[in-house]
Amino acid sequence: MTHTRTQVGIVGAGPAGLLLSHLLHLRGIESVVLEARSRDYVERRVRAGVLEQRTVDTLVGSGVGQRLLAEGLVHHGIELRFGGAGHRIAFEQLVPGRAITIYGQQEVVKDLIAARLAAGGQVLFDVTDVRLAGLDGGQPAITFSHDGAEHVLDCAFVGGCDGFHGICRDAVPDGVLTFFDREYPFGWLGVLAEVAPSSAELIYSCTDRGFALHSMRSPQLSRFYLQVAPDEDIENWPDERIWAELRARLETVGGWQLAQGPVAEKGVTAMRSFVAEPMRYGRLFLAGDAAHIVPPTGAKGLNLAAFDVTVLTDALAAWFATGDESGLDAYSATCLRRVWRVQHFSWWMTTLLHTFWPVDPYERRLQRSYLDYVCSSTAAATSLAENYVGL
Ligand code: APR
Ligand code: PHB
Repeated sequence: MTHTRTQVGIVGAGPAGLLLSHLLHLRGIESVVLEARSRDYVERRVRAGVLEQRTVDTLVGSGVGQRLLAEGLVHHGIELRFGGAGHRIAFEQLVPGRAITIYGQQEVVKDLIAARLAAGGQVLFDVTDVRLAGLDGGQPAITFSHDGAEHVLDCAFVGGCDGFHGICRDAVPDGVLTFFDREYPFGWLGVLAEVAPSSAELIYSCTDRGFALHSMRSPQLSRFYLQVAPDEDIENWPDERIWAELRARLETVGGWQLAQGPVAEKGVTAMRSFVAEPMRYGRLFLAGDAAHIVPPTGAKGLNLAAFDVTVLTDALAAWFATGDESGLDAYSATCLRRVWRVQHFSWWMTTLLHTFWPVDPYERRLQRSYLDYVCSSTAAATSLAENYVGL
């Protein structure tokens, strides 16, 4: 059993854990990141790809934005497609000066890993049996196995950044956290295709066959999502069926055609909303998906994770500099204010755009009425736009 010491032990090398480690390093605080998966796995895992301006500013401002600035696609609007017509939500008019950037989450992860390793940071991949102890005292310790040996990492604080299925949230004694949860009766089938996008901007399409989203990753790579059953077996979706369904749900506007190409990756994810409160237990601070999940319709998961760790970095930096606890004490409440705004927005976008089977005609009319309102009222469109680009 080897003992090592660091200032902050971080569990999880997703966007939350890596960005936390990177931001702490810039403030002179040392950390070790422990990741269950391989480096290759986390760098290839295809997830969402929409960055709010604030997230872009955090990445660029902390020196990891070179590739993001060169390769990210800046978008100034999205299209809502329903009732046989497309309706543009024009950010440049509704929320001047604010935009979103399309840049895959795994690219953010690659950039952060490269930056951590270049700075001599410790990111340990393929660790197993991660356990937390001493969270309610002043001496937390993380035990884990790596390269066939047992290790103990002593630290002043633990960053619980191990996603929704991690162990950190479960390390909190029963009764301390309150959970808020909503499961949706559908999931998303995500597809990455080697074909130029058929649209310059994202299309959120609402049809009686279900929801579809046309997104992209680069001028050569398109990303699509189809609303499917939450437990849908991907084996039921050969590429031909995917394209036929995408065409049926996206080619709903006269003359608009979907370009097809080879499918590079596909998979189904269930959709849920989840919040754990508070986001702290003693010396453990939960951040990102470990503390909250949103359905991907509002494209917020990564952005919320980035917000959490910027707040946590400031709080930890104050504590290490002066022993000031006020930032740490305020961490959970500060994050949860934003978390709940985003919870509402993501639930609202999801409810507005998906088909809930069996179809309730009254609810369908309500959805349609709200879609018409969003696309005809500047006030309603501004509300969507300001939440979408990030408050
Ligand atoms: N030990 C070590 N690492 C673990 C453990 C464990 N017991 N359990 C999970 N992990 C790792 C996962 O393998 C993953 O790499 O923690 C990481 C968590 O990363 P994410 O799931 O990406 O979560 P987070 O960093 O909070 O990112 C926020 O934004 O787009 C959204 O949901 C999407 O993942 C995304 C999120
Ligand atoms: C994506 O490109 O992966 C994406 C875009 C918009 C969303 C969700 C996911 O709302």
